[in-house]
Amino acid sequence: MAETMKGLKRTHYCGQLRLEDAGKEITVCGWVQRQRDLGQLIFIDLRDRTGIVQLAFDDDSQTELFEKAFTARAEFVLAAKGVVRERASKNMEIPTGEIEIQVEDLRVLAKADTPPFEIVEHSSVKEDTRLKYRYLDLRRPGMQRAILKRHAITKAAHDYFDANGFVEIETPTLIKSTPEGARDYLVPSRVKPGSFFALPQSPQLFKQLLMLSGFDRYMQIARCYRDEDLRADRQPEFTQIDLEMSFVTPDDVMTIGEGFLKDVYKKVLDVDVETPFLRMPWKEAMERFGSDKPDLRFGMELKDLSDALKGTQFRVFAGALKKGSVRGINFKGGAQKLTRKEIDKLTEWIKAYGAKGLAWTRLAETGESSSYEKFLSPEENAAIREILQAETGDVLLLVASEKNSVVFASLGALRCELAARYELIDTRKPCFLWVTDFPLFEYDDEENRWVAMHHPFTAPREEDREKLLTDPGAVCAQAYDVVLNGYELGGGSIRINDPQLQKTMFQALGFSPEEAQRRFGFLTDAFRYGVPPHGGMAFGLDRLVMLMLGYDSIRDVIAFPKVASSGDLMTDAPSPVDAKQLEELHIALRKEAEEAVKAEEAPETAE
Ligand code: AMO
Repeated sequence: MAETMKGLKRTHYCGQLRLEDAGKEITVCGWVQRQRDLGQLIFIDLRDRTGIVQLAFDDDSQTELFEKAFTARAEFVLAAKGVVRERASKNMEIPTGEIEIQVEDLRVLAKADTPPFEIVEHSSVKEDTRLKYRYLDLRRPGMQRAILKRHAITKAAHDYFDANGFVEIETPTLIKSTPEGARDYLVPSRVKPGSFFALPQSPQLFKQLLMLSGFDRYMQIARCYRDEDLRADRQPEFTQIDLEMSFVTPDDVMTIGEGFLKDVYKKVLDVDVETPFLRMPWKEAMERFGSDKPDLRFGMELKDLSDALKGTQFRVFAGALKKGSVRGINFKGGAQKLTRKEIDKLTEWIKAYGAKGLAWTRLAETGESSSYEKFLSPEENAAIREILQAETGDVLLLVASEKNSVVFASLGALRCELAARYELIDTRKPCFLWVTDFPLFEYDDEENRWVAMHHPFTAPREEDREKLLTDPGAVCAQAYDVVLNGYELGGGSIRINDPQLQKTMFQALGFSPEEAQRRFGFLTDAFRYGVPPHGGMAFGLDRLVMLMLGYDSIRDVIAFPKVASSGDLMTDAPSPVDAKQLEELHIALRKEAEEAVKAEEAPETAE
């Protein structure tokens, strides 16, 4: 039977003890990292969330105590009371390595089966296994550090916004479905048959209503839900540090936002971040870096070659130039790294971004080769080399497309890929910037209409108001994103607070007045009662923690994340529910869903 803590009280965490504590009688609790039996002497490394301490058993006349230490296995839960003493042979690799605890009382609080993987810092176990046994994975020091740092970052956020007069207010998570952008997660209503709540994609509309109610500085660490495809930096449920302010300009929101980032980096990592951050208009970001979230830690900027190729006879380029462009990057010194074969592989790789291929010139010291120079005039080739500042040793990489968006996306991704692959990035300092002046709309080819680039409540620039209906593509938004190391860390905008302007905006988005009223009436009605000018933003907390700690995936900084299929490997959610539950919710499954449930419930057949 498991023993209890009766009569014992933890006095210290394992990782806290130092040489100064020698002679003290203490009690520690934790999990067995490993046990070493040297005959007359048994050592147990005991682990808790602060680190590891060595328990020593060297008096084998204490038979019961010795026996317990002898039978302790990895991951058993123990409490140990004893005296701290200086170690005979010290281990300077760990903070507690100068001491050990001479144990007088040992309790086995719980035994443990052999875990499916060893609980160690660097484990080669597959991520699926880690996620299935996430509670064990969370015992690993790296995961513990990530979760504890996440706590520190969240606390710094609460403190910073509190000190700046923000009020934390919870907004509901069962709300009206108003999809724009990602798909909503829906929750069926029991009491209103056929109706559904949605889980919020963000607290956007509620925080705007709070401005109207007079809470002129709001913040919330808010859980958000979006039914969209997962990536390393996206989860179906994630957390935002969300804020909204009244009586402000974009400048005020950006100043508060960058002030927070400066503060959190100092408090949590003791890193000095310089403010104000660089501000770059969206158009410049796209043209120079091919991305609205440019990574400025390395160069390899895009150059527009379209003018130099205006009259070209080369069909591929001429075709692209009709509606789009030809642009290129210069991979300086790349000839040493990129062989012909590598370039061929990149040509395939880049197709995922919509490019039909990659045109290249390789200026190796041993000789020049090119996929396109033979089709161009000497003047055209000279102009391209001049614009890209080509020198011996370089590789020039060009993309031509009738769609500028394809040229930007593919070259933007290529420069990041090359920089990552060939370690061209200076990772010592975080690199922040604001991207401003986003277009208000983007054209959705599938829906055949203009859609809001951020959301329908984002205000256009004052000077662009007149163009809302006549030239939507030319309207800039009062929107800003904060970018960190090439990731979109946060974003926000000044909102529309003029009901007439909001109506025009809905019209531009193709909503009929009835449709707009049905979807957003509760907001536009409220705005009739005196809404202050307001704006705000939201940071992705998971992305912030990931980037601050240097991880590649937000799954590494979320205690219980989902996998790519949006499921939870540990609890096996989502899962079928009882017929009775469905009935209460007035839900009948369609045939294909019923079959899927049957297949899932069928006992696995032996192969
Ligand atoms: P936006 O949609 O840009 O803005 O989201 C803000 C930030 O949230 C993070 N984020 C995500 N993180 C993980 N997984 C996801 N699926 C995911 N989606 C977004 C990003 C992003 O920059 N209401 C507006 C903010 C505003 O205008 O005030 C909003 O939600 O870091």
